[in-house]
Amino acid sequence: MKIIHLTDPHIIGAVRANLFGLNPTDRLKKALKSINKHHSDAKFIAITGDLADNATKKAYKNYKNIIEDSKIPVYSILGNHDNRSFFKEVFTEFKDNDFIQYSFTIKKNAFIFLDTLDQGKMSGTLCSKRYKWLTEKLEEYKEYNVYLFMHHHPIKCGLYEFDTTAHFRNKNKFWKTLGQYKNIRHISFGHLHRIINANRDGISMHCTRSTAFQVALKTNTKAECLTNKEKPTYAIINIDGANFRIHHHEFLDENKIYECEGRWNQIISGED
Ligand SMILES: [Fe+2]
Ligand SMILES: [Fe+2]
Repeated sequence: MKIIHLTDPHIIGAVRANLFGLNPTDRLKKALKSINKHHSDAKFIAITGDLADNATKKAYKNYKNIIEDSKIPVYSILGNHDNRSFFKEVFTEFKDNDFIQYSFTIKKNAFIFLDTLDQGKMSGTLCSKRYKWLTEKLEEYKEYNVYLFMHHHPIKCGLYEFDTTAHFRNKNKFWKTLGQYKNIRHISFGHLHRIINANRDGISMHCTRSTAFQVALKTNTKAECLTNKEKPTYAIINIDGANFRIHHHEFLDENKIYECEGRWNQIISGED
C-alpha cells in the first residue's frame, strides 16, 4: 500500500504573491500534479501543517481550491503558522471540533493525525485533552500497525531554533505515552523544511522538505535559521505489512531524464 506525505506548503491568500522569491501556490499545485500523475495508486496524501503562511481565511480558501483538484484524498493537519479558527471556517466539517485530530484504518493499518498547534506560538504541544484522545486511539488500534502524523518534530533535531523556540514541548510525556504500545511503526512530521530520518525508542520517523521554501542546514550554531535553494520534495511511503520504505522525490525537475549509460550529463528529454 502506498501513501504520500507532503508538508509545509505555506500558502498565502494572494494567489500570485511570492514568498522568498517562489510561489507556494504554484509549487503545491506542481506537487499534487506529480503525485496524481505518478502515484494514482496512493491511498491518500497527508499534509502535515503550516498549510498557510499568514493564516488568513483567504489563504485557507486558496489552499482548499488547490487540494480539491487532487483525485487522491488529502488529509490535512495544522502547524504553528496555522490558525485553527480560520481553518475551521473554511473546512466546515471540523467546525464543532476543538482540535484538528482524526484517525482511520485501511486494512490492518491505523493512521492517526495529531494537532500540535499551540496558537500564537512557534513551539508545539499536546494538551491533556489531546493526549486523552491519543491514548484512546492507541487503545482502539492495539491490533493494528499504527502510523502517526504531526507537525512538530517530537525529537531534538540539531537546529538551534527548532530545538528551542520552535520545539515540541513536553517530549517526555509524548514518548511515555507511545512507550506503552509496541505496534507504532512510524511518525511522519513536518515543520523542519528539511529531510531528516530519526529513531527513538525503536520508533522510526522522518520529515520531508516543504513544498515551498527550505531551511538551510546549520548545526553547532545559535545563528538564526536561513532559507536556501534546496528543492522541494514529497515523500512516497510504501507499506508492506509492518515493513515500509520511503522515497523523497524532488518533483520540480522530474521531467529532466538523464541517460545512464556513461553520460550522466546529457539531458535526453524534459523541460526547464
Ligand atoms: Fe513551516
Ligand atoms: Fe512549522
